[in-house]
Amino acid sequence: MSGNRTFTMLKPDTVESNNIGNVTQMITDAGFVIKAMKLTQLSKDQAKEFYSVHKERPFYGELVEYMTSGPIVAAVLEKDNAVEDFRNLIGSTDPSEAEDGTIRKKYAESKGRNAVHGSDSDENAQIEADFHFNKEDLV
Ligand code: RTP
Ligand code: MG
Repeated sequence: MSGNRTFTMLKPDTVESNNIGNVTQMITDAGFVIKAMKLTQLSKDQAKEFYSVHKERPFYGELVEYMTSGPIVAAVLEKDNAVEDFRNLIGSTDPSEAEDGTIRKKYAESKGRNAVHGSDSDENAQIEADFHFNKEDLV
């Protein structure tokens, strides 16, 4: 059975371009309920660990630089079928391939600077939420 929670980060480009409000509006308009949310800045070690699955990829260094280049907004979101529905809402990794109406189509600059993160499985949603939040942070 699919779970009802996912984890997101509004990435540094979204914060820098003053689109926290616009992206959050799209998320809540799509029916997601915010269970926890915070503005924070990732350390190099945190970004490396968060994206460690990509450590052998050529873009890993660039990804860590980007994700630590400014503040991010981390959040836990709730909705039926949360992981899949949120991936559909954010659109393809490369905004030039993202569908109209998706967050990345609207706000992402490039494949590297692509506005928002969405967990890719229920298991990773739990791991990623636990990475950023304690149980008592969730309403
Ligand atoms: P995310 O994990 O951030 O939600 O993104 P995703 O699933 O759509 O894409 P993933 O394959 O997990 O890649 C993680 C992030 O690495 C950066 N990336 N850059 N320059 C490149 O070719 C490239 N490929 C990936 C992006 O910031 C991507 O979101
Ligand atoms: Mg991913």
